[in-house]
Amino acid sequence: MKKAILTLALAAALPLGAQQKPVYLDETKPLEQRVEDALKRMTLQEKLKVIHAQSKFSSAGVPRLGIHEVWTDDGPHGVRPEVLWDEWDQAGWTNDSCVAFPALTCLAATWNPEMSLLYGKSVGEEARFREKDVLLGPGVNIYRTPLNGRNFEYMGEDPYLSSRMVVPYIQGLQSNGVAACVKHYALNNHEVNRHNTNVIVDDRALYEIYLPAFKAAVQEGKAWAIMSSYNLYEGHHVGQNKRLLDDILRGEWKFDGVVISDWGGVHNTDQAIAHGIDMEFGSWTDGLSNGASNAYDNYYLANPYLQRIKEGKVGTKELDDKVRRVLRLMFRTSMNSKKPFGSMCSEAHYEAARRIGQEGIVLLKNEGNVLPIDLNKVKKIAVVGENAIKMMTVGGGSSSLKVQREISPLDGIKARVAGKAEVVYARGYVGDATGEYNGVVTGQNLKDDRTPEQLIAEAVEVAKGADVVIFIGGLNKSAGQDCEDSDRAGLNLSYGQDNVIAALAEANKNLVVVNISGNAIAMPWVDDVPAIVQDWYIGSEAGPALAGILMGDVNPSGRLPFTFPVALEDVPAHKLGEYTGERTRDTVNIKYNESIFVGYRWADKQKKVKPLFPFGHGLTYTTFEYGKPTADAKTMTADGKLTVTVAVTNTGSREGQEVVQLYIADKKSTLPRPVKELKGFQKVKLAPGETKQVSFTIEKDALSYFDDQKHEWVAEPGKFEAIIAASAADIKGKVPFELK
Ligand code: BGC
Repeated sequence: MKKAILTLALAAALPLGAQQKPVYLDETKPLEQRVEDALKRMTLQEKLKVIHAQSKFSSAGVPRLGIHEVWTDDGPHGVRPEVLWDEWDQAGWTNDSCVAFPALTCLAATWNPEMSLLYGKSVGEEARFREKDVLLGPGVNIYRTPLNGRNFEYMGEDPYLSSRMVVPYIQGLQSNGVAACVKHYALNNHEVNRHNTNVIVDDRALYEIYLPAFKAAVQEGKAWAIMSSYNLYEGHHVGQNKRLLDDILRGEWKFDGVVISDWGGVHNTDQAIAHGIDMEFGSWTDGLSNGASNAYDNYYLANPYLQRIKEGKVGTKELDDKVRRVLRLMFRTSMNSKKPFGSMCSEAHYEAARRIGQEGIVLLKNEGNVLPIDLNKVKKIAVVGENAIKMMTVGGGSSSLKVQREISPLDGIKARVAGKAEVVYARGYVGDATGEYNGVVTGQNLKDDRTPEQLIAEAVEVAKGADVVIFIGGLNKSAGQDCEDSDRAGLNLSYGQDNVIAALAEANKNLVVVNISGNAIAMPWVDDVPAIVQDWYIGSEAGPALAGILMGDVNPSGRLPFTFPVALEDVPAHKLGEYTGERTRDTVNIKYNESIFVGYRWADKQKKVKPLFPFGHGLTYTTFEYGKPTADAKTMTADGKLTVTVAVTNTGSREGQEVVQLYIADKKSTLPRPVKELKGFQKVKLAPGETKQVSFTIEKDALSYFDDQKHEWVAEPGKFEAIIAASAADIKGKVPFELK
């Protein structure tokens, strides 16, 4: 009796539930143990519920067990506003306006992994505050053609650059207890026919070009989720593709997270069960379009799956594997009691957005030092172009946002020069005056009925009377202008912008062209314009970021993450490979004949065709000088290392950042190899007159190619060169060495 009273008293003294806490809820227990414990408590119905959507962006939990649902949201540039449970229409919340961070092309153009970490951490805090468990991003599809409408959501043409930049984004994001969902795995390199393009690509290009960033995301970034892409590969949609999902992702890379289907990317129950995705979202089943009482029950992995189990056609082994992955995701995110609280629209987030933007803007050309604009001399600035005033955070597809604020380039410039110079504006051309996506409206009235001639005449008039003219144009995230589910019709700018620029160049020799886009454009006027700036979709801080660069508050340090070709014929996907801009419902085979020769790898091979601006290019307002690079040895072994060092000096009069690039050339190999490949880069800040020694350590990985016959990475003994460069076309020095 006495003993019983004592036990009761002891139990009362312990914190509530401490004694009975089931293993799956005990965060001190190993993850796998918790997963197995939860799994064995779940009924068949409960298991089926967690592997598919219950609304546009969420999937069910297990209420009976206190296991929370999963909430996803786009991604990748900010947290998309709330939509209705089962509609794309806005839910009409008033607390879901976010900070828009720069588009991922801009992030890649910073060539600064610290900016990536800051980006991931900041957007993750916003996602966390909004109670999201999965952010649908970042995107790392390789830039194969400048026509791809979604390049702005990706990180450029080079597998090494995108790998280095994606890892910190994921780490920063997931430090908030919010999963990254890296997309779109894989080979989704254009938008037209994205649901019915069957990509035919050789294994070398697959492993060397198209997969490395995903692999880095999984193995180094430890991404908790990955999104299967819409397209087909080897005749099967990626959401149910054995080779890409089972063999490579889960097999070779040992991915333990969830594969989330792109919205509506699943098409077949049996294949999806056998080797497909783990979570099905956005399916357009009959039930959904007919508005059945619970459309989600008709998903490929809902009732049809249950039916097959009941009929004994499939067992539950595959189901358990999918559920294990979903439980892992839940324990890492929605069920993680230690995750931070997050924050929204903080000054720190705006500051991060501006910093990343300013580090990503690329100064392409600056003859006669038109830039930075000297406000001691310049008293009247003419700004021309629709992109100077157009809100660009709305549009472009699923990455469209509802922002708390967005400062336009014109307003940014006006605020920066207030009291020092007068700013006059002319429209120059009318592009797309609309501004709406899924019910989010910009509220801007950009309607203008004047003819192109009238608009140009006004712009020329304004330009003639100014000390400096800044044309701000480019693409604008409308369909065909950098937008999901559409590609661009060509490389040239639309809306007669080339005519406007040509007229401005004649009217005023101090012309700056600012191109806002996520893609390369043709520049028929390149020789007539002294200063050209590659701006991006910068988001909330578009105006201040650009103004800071133009006025010289910030020294430009962005470098191109992709090649600017002169013409479309200079792009290997168009010259050699296949691409179709014509829409069809049939399966279209698209063969990547150019294989590994994408971007600068192709440009290097074409000795005669020079790009308009090469990969890695970007100017600053100072000058850098490189010493002669040296290596600490003449040879290295396959399990050894070699260090290459180069001295870089700031020889100009202001502080600046140089991106020192290391490329490796394999002088002789059994299989064809690119002339050189990026295998290292460092962004170094230098005060005027300062010199820094920049070192790169080379290991076997940097020398290897993928041998598709042996199905393994091979570093062939022989002669190599370490090339130190300021861009793919600006080589500063070479060091030969040998792999023994
Ligand atoms: C896009 C994805 C996006 C999803 C949800 C799809 O159309 O391809 O990138 O995450 O929609 O909005």
